[in-house]
Amino acid sequence: TSFDLVVRNARVVTAADVFTCDIGVREGVITALGTGLAPGAREVDAQGRYVTPGGVDAHCHLDQPSPPPVRMADDFDTGTASAACGGTTTVIPFAAQEKGSSLRAAVEDYHRRAEGRAHVDYAFHLIVSDPTPKVLEEELPALIEEGYTSFKIYMTYDDLKLDDGQILDVLDVARRHGAMAMIHAENSDCIEWLTRRLQAAGKTAPRFHAHARPMLVEREATHRAISLSQLVDVPILIVHVSGKDAVEQIRWARGLGLSIFAETCPQYLFLTAEDLGLESPEDGYLGARCVCSPPPRDKSNQEVIWRGLADGTFTVFSSDHAPFRYDGEHGKKPGGQEVAFQHIPNGIPGLETRLPLLWSEGVLGGRITPQKFVELTATNPAKAYGLHPRKGTIAIGADADLVVWDERDVIVRNDMLHHDVDYTPYEGIALRAWPGLTLVGGDVVWDGRTFLPRRGAGRFLRCGMPTLLPARG
Ligand code: URP
Ligand code: ZN
Ligand code: ZN
Ligand code: ZN
Repeated sequence: TSFDLVVRNARVVTAADVFTCDIGVREGVITALGTGLAPGAREVDAQGRYVTPGGVDAHCHLDQPSPPPVRMADDFDTGTASAACGGTTTVIPFAAQEKGSSLRAAVEDYHRRAEGRAHVDYAFHLIVSDPTPKVLEEELPALIEEGYTSFKIYMTYDDLKLDDGQILDVLDVARRHGAMAMIHAENSDCIEWLTRRLQAAGKTAPRFHAHARPMLVEREATHRAISLSQLVDVPILIVHVSGKDAVEQIRWARGLGLSIFAETCPQYLFLTAEDLGLESPEDGYLGARCVCSPPPRDKSNQEVIWRGLADGTFTVFSSDHAPFRYDGEHGKKPGGQEVAFQHIPNGIPGLETRLPLLWSEGVLGGRITPQKFVELTATNPAKAYGLHPRKGTIAIGADADLVVWDERDVIVRNDMLHHDVDYTPYEGIALRAWPGLTLVGGDVVWDGRTFLPRRGAGRFLRCGMPTLLPARG
């Protein structure tokens, strides 16, 4: 056998091990791991640098329709370019059902948005916003069988949220068909009540977004999501966990033996509510750039999240990339206007910075092991959403999606990133590493300096069943 590509002297990291070997690639797939492999048509010398599986970003929003004039800044072209240059080789964005419309229509529309544009591989989660009998009995079961095996349920946002009875109905479908339900846990009535009071008091600046969504709002909804999951007897994955109160709920549930999985994101490690704006001096509207939900908390909560990553509380680490420009008509100033906090589009960009932030400050900073990094950013997201072992690991038979890490000093600047957003929340942060090479199916898509487009070569992935847990009888 011969190789199209051999990566030599790689310090290979999997969720379980670190070992040095050569990686042989043929037709986009890893076909050998060993020392002294025969020459490949192409050769890359990793020179003993760390090589991790390409990242799987299991929570990112690309070209997801929003009510006009708001529009996401990244589509499958710019979004996956940005992913690739930051070491992410598989993305799982969301095909969102519109209320009053079918789930099938959302999937078909989303395929049209993705088709021919992606530079990395992609799968879809579904967002169920209107669980009619037809959706529950026909569309959702059929889509699960076709390889859309995960969906997100919202407890807040008027155009997306489900009530508890609807959530039970949807979780029951997840249970019967073995799908993975992701839950956005915030109490929408509390948020609306607080928002009305802030509004009445003239407190409309971006920083009041955090006041309208205090941690108890997340804690209550997290507890309720756990209870609904327990009632139906189905695993759930709680997305974008922001701090201590929600972490306590998750640990409590695990202590009862419940299958509650949890995700966190870079914004809960590197941002605080102060990034939404300080009381004094009044810095105006700039804080709108960091408006996301749940909001970033404070330093002590960042520590809780770091500990949760190290100790297994968190299953996956995703970006929650939700790209809106600061300037212009379509983003953080809808119609070009500075608006009250409750009208600012929620979400921040982070596809490209997710892995460098965690490798640099987590692994090189001594907070997590390289193996834990791989588990959180690639292996577990692939398992949670039915893409493992093709994705998320370095093994014979897996796709040759690889990242070679360069240890070098980097100051994060928006102008070095490849998304179509006009800012990064991480501007000016000093990091000690950046991907020096990203391979997707054996193709170089990022060489450490230059993006090498492979537009349309990213493939759609049908997901299998989640494998975080052993199959149940
Ligand atoms: O603020 C956020 N996170 N926006 C993206 C949508 C979501 O809820 O994940
Ligand atoms: Zn089924
Ligand atoms: Zn969410
Ligand atoms: Zn999200």
